[in-house]
Amino acid sequence: MDSRVLVDDLSFVKMIDSKEIESKIAEMAVEINSVYFGEKIEIIIVLKGAFIFAADLIRHLNFEHNIHFIQFSSYQGTSSSGIITEKFPLELDVRDKKILIIEDIVDTGNTLNYFIDKLNTDNPRSVDIAALLFKTEAYTHTFPVRFSAFEIENKFVIGYGLDIDEKARNLKHIYQLEK
Ligand code: IMP
Repeated sequence: MDSRVLVDDLSFVKMIDSKEIESKIAEMAVEINSVYFGEKIEIIIVLKGAFIFAADLIRHLNFEHNIHFIQFSSYQGTSSSGIITEKFPLELDVRDKKILIIEDIVDTGNTLNYFIDKLNTDNPRSVDIAALLFKTEAYTHTFPVRFSAFEIENKFVIGYGLDIDEKARNLKHIYQLEK
């Protein structure tokens, strides 16, 4: 029934089932918990797309942490406008802090590259990334994506927090644009 969805006349086909997402996130959390055991971490959630992923991931984490939010925008429809704007700035002094950025998807990597460069000017102790999805073929940067749940091909995806023009964030599964 839910193997295909239509949004604005575009057809999307189911790519990752919610059950698979759930178990992969639990696995990822085991790894993250082992890396940060006994540490205090500043978690920065990138709005809006990561809100569902972050809510699910964070409930598995067992180290001390604070939660912060930031928002950028560079996407319109199914492609990046190339211009990154900060819509919801970070109010955190990152000096000497260990940072974990939670992001929905790393595509070109431009958004995170911009943000990491900015964070690094204030000398955090470390910066790691936990991304739900990683489009490795589209990626054009070198910063490590330390934790990623799924590496996917270079096609536009929606659901589980990811949108197309603000639609489809509420879909339980992840869907890929059908050509
Ligand atoms: P990047 O700067 O190209 O890595 O793009 C990062 C941001 O673009 C993500 O945080 C998403 O908000 C958005 N984005 C990239 N690819 C997709 C996609 O396939 N579906 C929905 N949003 C996407």
